[in-house]
Amino acid sequence: MFRKVLEYTGEYKSYTYRAMCFLVAGLLFNVMQFMAVYQLIDGAITGEHHLSYYLIWLAVFLGCGLIYMVLYIHGLILSHDSAYHTLKNLRVSLQGKMENLPLGVIQELGVGSLKKVFIDDIDNMELLLAHALPEGFSNVCVPTIVMIAMFFVDWKLALLCLASLPLGILSMMAMYMAGTSKMGDYYASAQKMNDTIVEYINGMEVVKIFGRDGESYRRFSGDVLSYRDFTLAWYKMCWPWMALYGSFLPCVALFTLPIGGYFVYTGVSTLSNFLLVLCMAFAIGPTIMKAMSYMSVLPQLNYKITALENILSAPPLKQGTKPFGGSDRSIAFEHVSFAYEEGQKVLDDVNLMIPANSVTALVGESGSGKSTLAKLLVHFYDVSDGVIKIGGMDITEMSLESLNDQISYVAQEQFLFQMSLLENIRLGKPEASREEVLEAARKAQCMDFLDRLEHGIDSMAGDSGKMLSGGERQRIALARAILKNAPIIVLDEATAFMDPENEEKMNQAIAELIADKTVIVIAHRLYSIKNADNIVVMQDGKISAVGTHETLLDSCSKYKDLWELSEGTKNWSATSKEQAAPATGKEQGAPVTGKKQDVKEVSA
Ligand SMILES: Nc1ncnc2c1ncn2[C@@H]1O[C@H](COP(=O)(O)OP(=O)(O)OP(=O)(O)O)[C@@H](O)[C@H]1O
Ligand SMILES: [Mg+2]
Repeated sequence: MFRKVLEYTGEYKSYTYRAMCFLVAGLLFNVMQFMAVYQLIDGAITGEHHLSYYLIWLAVFLGCGLIYMVLYIHGLILSHDSAYHTLKNLRVSLQGKMENLPLGVIQELGVGSLKKVFIDDIDNMELLLAHALPEGFSNVCVPTIVMIAMFFVDWKLALLCLASLPLGILSMMAMYMAGTSKMGDYYASAQKMNDTIVEYINGMEVVKIFGRDGESYRRFSGDVLSYRDFTLAWYKMCWPWMALYGSFLPCVALFTLPIGGYFVYTGVSTLSNFLLVLCMAFAIGPTIMKAMSYMSVLPQLNYKITALENILSAPPLKQGTKPFGGSDRSIAFEHVSFAYEEGQKVLDDVNLMIPANSVTALVGESGSGKSTLAKLLVHFYDVSDGVIKIGGMDITEMSLESLNDQISYVAQEQFLFQMSLLENIRLGKPEASREEVLEAARKAQCMDFLDRLEHGIDSMAGDSGKMLSGGERQRIALARAILKNAPIIVLDEATAFMDPENEEKMNQAIAELIADKTVIVIAHRLYSIKNADNIVVMQDGKISAVGTHETLLDSCSKYKDLWELSEGTKNWSATSKEQAAPATGKEQGAPVTGKKQDVKEVSA
């Protein structure tokens, strides 16, 4: 286990070893203090020495104490230096692995669990690296040396010192076994509580709207209480054993004092040796206790390291190392199938050829797999079957960076980082100047709301961009894509939250953005894509038809239905506005349920 952790110490491994040496040396000086005490007591009993003898041993006692402190502090500084660099290495390594994991694996883990692993579990490793490892080693090493020395002084008294150790070690092992058996459940309960807390806070809006405060709070407090109960039960199980080993281990003189005293009385041992062994026993008692207390954290650390390694060992995305080498920016989905969860196909044998520099629209009912197809193209997930090619090159052959360079993706759900809006847009092209960013923001129609903000484009995005509306977040995301200006554009409902006025302006920006590029547009408002070169109709994870607006209206009943629905929605909103306007004769007093009728009337 230590070997695994030491792998992450990197160039600071020597710091850990040096820390161990300093701590061992420090403890030896600590033991020497007790030897000085022995000399003082022995001198006092025999009464054969001058004052200078006592002063010298007193000076030795104080000097050793000082050296012990200096060495110990220096050892701990080194061990902490190494520990915190190791924690950094662990986090960087985890983050690197996470970047290459399919999104599904990360989503399955949950925000609460990931926070626990990244922050709490790694922080807890500090105890192992800075204390348990170097201090544990020195606290085992020094008593062993002292014990051997005791055998040279008087083997009978030394054996008496050893006699209490098995009792302590046995109770320690019992605690270790009891603790480990429940450790999995203990952490599962901690993780459940973490996930519930994160969900409770994230879902606060929904909870309030639907008045589920009580129910949601009950779940929240239920998990907190069950974590408390679990922790208490776990400690209760360990406490008796802790008390036993806590009593036996430091009492190295438990048998030595009475039986050794008898030996001195009967002449089997000398008083001088008896005193020396007692002083040695008192010197190593606390160190043995310390060594064992570090052992008690091992079950937790063991579990945490395994959890960390499980995350690190999840199979990464299949990605190559080659730069993009496709002949053009055509996109081919060949026999592509995909399932988020084992056995539940979301895409089933999709075959689609998107010519370079064309505009292709994906339409279909909600849940038909449109966004999933886009996410597979940007390689958020590996396909379950089939292959996706750009310009004839399999996307799993190229590195994620070179694939990213080819595609600007505006996702259906927007996420903004907690940094300025300018920096959020600049993510599309890190080397872009402020002017370039502003130009992109202007094109994406961001200026009207940016001008309203106190610090304009330098305003912070707020937690996950929550201070912006859905439409505003979409415009920031579009500005990012405009700035990136990649040869392939994927727009997933990019104007879904727009009001009609902004949508028109935005469509102009999009028209400019997509010129001479390969474009995939996903839209529910079909009038916005009716001029696309190709329209792909998706149904239950399959492609049911491909064609232009006109051909599909004639040949595909599904498309015709979708078109009528989309037009109906458009007309419905127009009708609603009319209703909101001063009523005239016929409409006055029309029931709210008459909206559908209105639609029919208007479309008729
Ligand atoms: N992360 C996920 N984990 C599990 N299932 C998912 C996940 N994302 C989507 N799905 C499921 O996959 C199916 C297709 O989802 P997808 O988001 O591709 O649909 P869509 O056509 O884009 O729908 P919409 O028009 O509503 O955006 C749906 O049944 C959905 O429930
Ligand atoms: Mg979608």
